[in-house]
This record gives sequence, C-alpha cells and structure tokens, in this order.
Amino acid sequence: MADESRPEVVGVLGCGLMGSGIAQVCAQAGYRTIVREVDQAAVNAGLTRIERFLANGVTREKLTRAERDATMGRLAGTTSFDALAESDLIIEAIIEQVDAKRAVFAAVEEVVGPDTLFCSNTSSVCITELAASTTRPDKFIGLHFFNPVPIMSLVEVIRGLSTVDTTYQRVLKFAQSLGKQTVTAPDRPGFIVNRLLVPYLLSAVRAVESGCGTLEDVDTAMTLGCGHPMGPFALLDFVGVDTTYYIANIMHEEFRDPAYAPPPLLKRMVLAGRLGRKSGHGFYEY
Ligand code: 3HC
Repeated sequence: MADESRPEVVGVLGCGLMGSGIAQVCAQAGYRTIVREVDQAAVNAGLTRIERFLANGVTREKLTRAERDATMGRLAGTTSFDALAESDLIIEAIIEQVDAKRAVFAAVEEVVGPDTLFCSNTSSVCITELAASTTRPDKFIGLHFFNPVPIMSLVEVIRGLSTVDTTYQRVLKFAQSLGKQTVTAPDRPGFIVNRLLVPYLLSAVRAVESGCGTLEDVDTAMTLGCGHPMGPFALLDFVGVDTTYYIANIMHEEFRDPAYAPPPLLKRMVLAGRLGRKSGHGFYEY
C-alpha cells in the first residue's frame, strides 16, 4: 500500500437501503468494495438499487457514464464471508439486532487479518458493547451514515471506550475520503443527530395527537416556515416509523427522559404495519 493507513479493500455487511448506499459511496471513492448479503436475491436487489442510482446520476449529469462503469467495476456482491478475507476495513450495516451484529462480526473475524478495522453503522446499539464482543475492541468504531447515503454529507464517528487513537484517526480519514463531512459523537444512544431529531419527530406526533394541526399543515409549516427539506411526518415515513420507534425506545431506556418516550400512536402504527414508504403506508400513502 502506498499509504499504509488507507484501506485498499472495503467489506460491507448488508446491502439494504443503508448498506447499498455505503457500498456505493466506497466504490465511487475508488475503493474495491465487496458487499455481503444473506442470499443472492438480496445481493441482486442491493446492486440493482446502486445501478439505478448511478444511472439516475448520469441522467442528471452528476457523473459520467465512465465514472458509473468504473464504480460498478469496483463493486462485487457475495453471500459468503470468505469473499471478505482481503478487506482492510469492514462496515456493518445489517438489521439493528445486537445478536445478529455480533454473529456477523464473529464470522468475519474467522476470515480477515488481525489488523482489519471494524466499523458499525448502527444508529442505536452501544458501540462499546459490540466492540467487546469481538477480539479487537481497540480496532472497533461506530461510523453512522444518513439516508440517502450518497446524498447526505454527514457521517458521525463514534469512539467506543476501547477504541484506540490510531483506529479513530484512520477511520476519520477514511470517512473524509468518501467526500463526507465528519463529526465525532459520544457512544450514547442517538449519538448527535438522532439525539436531537428523534424527540423532534416524537413531539410532532404528540402535537398532532393533541390537535395542533393536520399532518399536512405541520409538514407544510416546518418545510416553508423553517426551510427543512421535509416535514416531520414525511421524514418519519422516509426514515421508517418502526426505525424511529425502535431508536426512541432505546433512548428512553437509557436516559429515562420522557422526551424520548414514543407516543401511543407511533406504537400502534408499527403494530398496524404502517411503517412508512417501505410498506407503502405510513402517515401518508405511497
Ligand atoms: N445521483 C447524484 N445526485 C443525485 C441523485 C443521483 N441519482 N439523485 C439526487 N441527487 C442530488 C440532486 O441532484 C440534488 O442535488 P443538487 O441540489 O446539488 O442538484 C439532491 O441530490 C437532491 O435531489 P432531489 O432534488 O431529486 O430530491 P429532493 O430535493 O426531493 O431531496 C432528499 C430529497 C435529499 C431526500 C431531501 O428531501 C432530504 O434531504 N430529506 C431529509 C433527509 C434526512 O433528513 N435524512 C436523514 C434521516 S435520519 C437518518 O438517516 C439516521 C438514521 O439513523 C435514522
């Protein structure tokens, strides 16, 4: 390697909405990127999402056809852990379940070298806890991206209690090499963005529940009155009603602050399967 601290091969665990976005930005930044999913259908779906985004980018003249082809050429999908063996840096972006995350990190540890850095894109699981379940807590760190990953400029970098300075510096540099702006956040539920965003979203639900206005009026008020790109209900549907409910519960459990308590309507929406855009119905219908 010319630059010893720069990874050559990046392994991404999970090719869903976040994983595919992460794999895309890594490949676009010039890294050979291997993304692993549980089955071939999930691999294909993720790679198709990336292809569509890049094709749309070409149409919008955000990138050239040659750049699109080069990006796709640096990307490979796999269902095996063995294919990740050469990875210098792993980014996990699977479901928000501690046991599932532990299991994939354990499987990756079987195949990668001892110097490979481990990152998690978790938005709610404790980084220190995940790190402690591996044999390399010093080389483990949180790297939290935002949806849609190729468009949102921010990445939160979260040091666990055992993360050493060299890991932090290398991962910081790596995130910046993806064209992202970084902030360093504490290993506390919600980090920085969700710590502020989630209570805002919950208070929007409470406001409507208590007769403050219609969904549409609240969304219009916040977009036109505050210049937000989306109102809180459009954003809840975009992020996922279930995802917000899940993060709110974890924050409430940790801080015991009523500001993080999910309002009854949010829970009922999850129970009814109204999860937002992904289920075709949330606060709005799609
Ligand atoms: N390739 C390249 N660029 C593209 C693109 C593509 N395929 N598609 C869109 N873009 C660019 C556009 O060109 C445009 O950039 P420009 O202004 O420089 O021309 C920009 O992306 C916006 O695209 P659009 O105009 O098509 O879309 P909108 O204006 O409708 O914006 C949005 C869509 C970016 C999703 C915007 O509504 C937004 O920012 N919403 C808020 C999203 C947000 O808050 N995300 C964070 C959620 S929290 C989270 O993820 C954390 C988790 O833990 C819960």
